Amino acid sequence: MKSLPLLFLGIFFMLAFSFTGIVLTSHVQFGALEQTTESLEADENGNLVMPEGETLYPLIEGGLALQGKEVYISMGCIYCHSQQSRRESFGADVARGWAQRATVPRDYISQSRVLLGTMRTGPDLVNVGGRLQGDGGREWHHKHLYNPQITSKGSNMPPFAFLYKVQAIDGAPSADAVAIPADSPYAPPAGYEIIPTRRAKALVEYLLSLKIDYSLPEAPILD
Ligand code: HEC
Repeated sequence: MKSLPLLFLGIFFMLAFSFTGIVLTSHVQFGALEQTTESLEADENGNLVMPEGETLYPLIEGGLALQGKEVYISMGCIYCHSQQSRRESFGADVARGWAQRATVPRDYISQSRVLLGTMRTGPDLVNVGGRLQGDGGREWHHKHLYNPQITSKGSNMPPFAFLYKVQAIDGAPSADAVAIPADSPYAPPAGYEIIPTRRAKALVEYLLSLKIDYSLPEAPILD
């Protein structure tokens, strides 16, 4: 081959060009983002600073929810669910009530793995913890994960029943048994109950933790 140096030069420039475009420019734009308070105030010199003592957002992921994130990743939920709310001019995410505002790069800085997703066979989940909250939300998620038909008839989300175990009721029903109505075709046989495994509990805590319920200086929640 005659023009080997030219070929290598071409490969070098192609790699250098894409590295600059993808890695360096994103690093310059987003690399310095830090947690911040919901709004900033001017100090005596007129510089914008964070008011003291206020909560810093986004919150750091942790606890059982972080273990649940691993379950979310391993179950492939990302193939049907995104975690990004689009700007109003880009889609109806806010109008649909999926989130109160569009998400911005800072919303993701505390996550070691960002699960933006590209497919939306199901609804966006970036603020699902804001939509389905507390014990009611927890109960809904367990029924839905055990079999989506219980809560959402006609859903094409697959059941994740293998994250639950069916066990014989020993005396009184367990406190954490999934409350499936007895007349449902998915109810366990009489004398049995459906119990979430640790993985199911962690996954539900993760879903409950997904919230965009705070403002950022560059993305305030407008009433
Ligand atoms: C094959 C695609 C598919 C996969 C995989 C999938 N889902 Fe879904 N999901 C859907 C569809 C469609 C809906 C809407 C109907 C419904 O509520 O079941 C949905 C709804 C949901 C909802 C309710 C959201 C809302 O706002 O009402 C949650 C929560 C959810 N999915 C969580 C998960 C989790 C967690 C996983 C992984 C364990 C997962 N999904 C995997 C398709 C999918």
